[in-house]
Amino acid sequence: NTYVVIMAGGIGSRFWPFSRTNYPKQFHDVLGIGESMLQMTANRFKNICPPENIFVVTNKDYESLVKEQLPQLKDNQILLEPIGRNTAPCIAYASYKISQLNPDANLVVTPSDHVVLKEDVFTNVITEAVEAAAKDDVLITLGITPSRPDTGYGYIQYIDDPSQNLKKVKTFTEKPNLELAQMFLDSGEFVWNSGIFIWNAQSIIRAFRQYLPEISEVFEEGSTSFNTLSEKDFISNAYSHCGNISIDYGIMEKVDNVYVLLSDIGWSDLGTWKSLYTISQKDENQNVVDGQAILYDTKDCIIKTPKNRLVVAQGLEDYIIAEYDNVLMICKKDEEQKVKEFMADAKASK
Ligand code: GDD
Ligand code: MG
Repeated sequence: NTYVVIMAGGIGSRFWPFSRTNYPKQFHDVLGIGESMLQMTANRFKNICPPENIFVVTNKDYESLVKEQLPQLKDNQILLEPIGRNTAPCIAYASYKISQLNPDANLVVTPSDHVVLKEDVFTNVITEAVEAAAKDDVLITLGITPSRPDTGYGYIQYIDDPSQNLKKVKTFTEKPNLELAQMFLDSGEFVWNSGIFIWNAQSIIRAFRQYLPEISEVFEEGSTSFNTLSEKDFISNAYSHCGNISIDYGIMEKVDNVYVLLSDIGWSDLGTWKSLYTISQKDENQNVVDGQAILYDTKDCIIKTPKNRLVVAQGLEDYIIAEYDNVLMICKKDEEQKVKEFMADAKASK
């Protein structure tokens, strides 16, 4: 009864220019290991459910990329969205569709832009979470010990009962400002939301009905079309009625049956340049270089450029230098939250 839903429709704008609208980061071999982030994500579940229970939700523009990278998926396992409406509609679509195939389905919902180093631990943790979600009406997320006041994550405060692995969540705060994030970190009472969720299909549908009825009504109305020829027509219309909202703001911050499973799975979100910098190997001056570079008095930089480009840099500290396709971006590492704006401005300037 275990199904996996891989969310792979984001455009990864904080990873621009490497991540592009027509080729977002989840389809790239970001780590240079011969596998894209999407392929790594699908492989992570090989001991958790049979391949026919893995579903990918993505934008219709990425259909051929998904098929090329995951040829084992049948057409019915690739859910195509006409427009990106963030993660709440994406999860609603998958939940209604899968519950139509199997009303008892337990879902593991996962982003496609994460690294998990400890795969065995991951398999055990997911198995434990699925068992809990099958028994009770709970919405479970994996919690990660925070290491910095990152404002790009959800922060979870939980009731610490040492006799339980699964901790009841007290507060869930999506993307706090820096001051708040620092306070959460200093208190020692919070973990990051990994964005990997485990729940029974009926539990999440119940939560949609209560907190995002405008979305659940849309999908309920058309649920008879799921897994039939008219699904595509229904979906293209349905999305135009869905607001743009993430599951974190729309549901996780509001519900009172959230539980967190603390886990040490060797997790990182490759959401931004800094996160790639953090997990990559550094040279003696703490530079991460993927490409060719001659560096003078340069430290703490990340340089990712095409193989045929020689970067010569002097006197730089804490910069991102990234070139991909026709764009070269140079940006202070600490200002990387602005990369999203750069992408929008670059698009507008064309
Ligand atoms: N299909 C589909 N459609 N997928 C989407 C869409 C969409 O419209 N929008 C985003 N996704 C996918 C992304 O590709 C990514 O794999 C995943 O959903 C999560 O979206 P992000 O945009 O990367 O979310 P985030 O990183 O800002 O925040 C989430 O993850 C953090 C941990 O990495 C939240 O859950 C945070 O609370 C969490 O800490
Ligand atoms: Mg992310």
